[in-house]
Amino acid sequence: MADQQPEADLQLAEAFARIQADVDARFDAFLPIPDDSRARLVEAMRYAVIGGGKRVRPLLTVTTAALYNVDRDLAERAGCAVEAIHAYSLIHDDLPCMDDDDLRHGKPTVHKAFDVATAVLAGDALHALAFEILSMPETSGDPYVRAELIETLASASGFGGMAGGQMMDIMAEGADYDLHTITRLQQLKTGALLGAAVEMGAILGRVPRDQRGHLHNFARDIGLAFQIADDLLDVEGDEASTGKALRKDQGAGKATFVSLMGVEQARDQAKALVEQAIGHLAIYGSEADLLRALARFIVYRDR
Ligand code: IPE
Ligand code: IPE
Ligand code: MG
Ligand code: MG
Ligand code: MG
Repeated sequence: MADQQPEADLQLAEAFARIQADVDARFDAFLPIPDDSRARLVEAMRYAVIGGGKRVRPLLTVTTAALYNVDRDLAERAGCAVEAIHAYSLIHDDLPCMDDDDLRHGKPTVHKAFDVATAVLAGDALHALAFEILSMPETSGDPYVRAELIETLASASGFGGMAGGQMMDIMAEGADYDLHTITRLQQLKTGALLGAAVEMGAILGRVPRDQRGHLHNFARDIGLAFQIADDLLDVEGDEASTGKALRKDQGAGKATFVSLMGVEQARDQAKALVEQAIGHLAIYGSEADLLRALARFIVYRDR
C-alpha cells in the first residue's frame, strides 16, 4: 500500500502530526486546573485527553470540513468535541465494571492512575465538555449550525449510538450473536461516533442534509472497518504499538467479527469495506485524497 500511495501517505502522516499537536493544545486551553479541590478532576481529564490517542475522529472532522473550505479553527473545535466523547467512552470502557483494563495509550488507565470515582467523574465531565464546546458561538456563529452539531453528536453518543453499542457489547459476552447483530453492535459502539465526526465536518460546511448521503455511506463503511481492525488488533496486534492490553476479547467470550468469521475473512471484509467507502467519494477529485488515505489507514493500521 505504501508503495502505491507514497504522496498520500506522507500527507496523512503530516496531517496526523498536526492534528495531534493541535488537539493537545486545545484541550490544554479548555482545561485549566482550578485552584481548589476540583483540581484532581481536571488533572484526570487532562491525563485522559492530552498526549495520547491517534485522533482519528478530529482528523475526520477537519478533513471532511476542508472539502467545503471550512475555517480550520471551527472544524478543530468540533473535532475536539467528538474526541472528548471518545475519551470519556474509553475511560468508562476501561473501568473494572466494564473491560477492567490497566493500560491505555501506553500508560495506566485513569482509574489506575487516580481512582474509580475520579475516573467516573472525569468521563462525565468530558461528556459535558463536548457539548459545552459545541454550544459556544466560537464553534459556529450560526445557532442552527450549533444545534445541528449538538444533535448529531448527542444521538451518536446515547442509546442510539455509542452507549447503546457498549450495552450490546456487554451483553455479547457469552451470547450467540449472528452477523447481523454484531454488525449492528459495531455500528453503534464505534461507527456512530466516527460517523458523527464526518457528519459534523459536513454540517460546518453547510452541506444540506439530503446531500450528505455519500458521506453517510462512507462513514458507515469506515466505521465498521475500524472496529473490525480493532478486533483484529486484539488478536494479532502488538501491545507496545497499541498501548493497550490485547488478547482480551476471546477470554471474555466476546462475540466479534473475528470470533464469528475468523481472522482471514474478517481482514478481507475490512479491506472490502474500505474500498467500498472510498467508492462513495467518487464525486470528489484529488481534494479528497487525504480522506481516502485516512480510510485506508483505518484498516492497515497497527495501533
Ligand atoms: C479505540 O479507539 C476504541 C474503539 C472505539 C475501537 P481508537 O483506536 O480510536 O483509540 P485511540 O484514541 O486512538 O487510542
Ligand atoms: C470500546 O471498544 C469502544 C468504546 C469505548 C465505545 P473496545 O473495548 O474494543 O475498545 P478497546 O479495545 O478497549 O480500545
Ligand atoms: Mg469494551
Ligand atoms: Mg475495551
Ligand atoms: Mg477492542
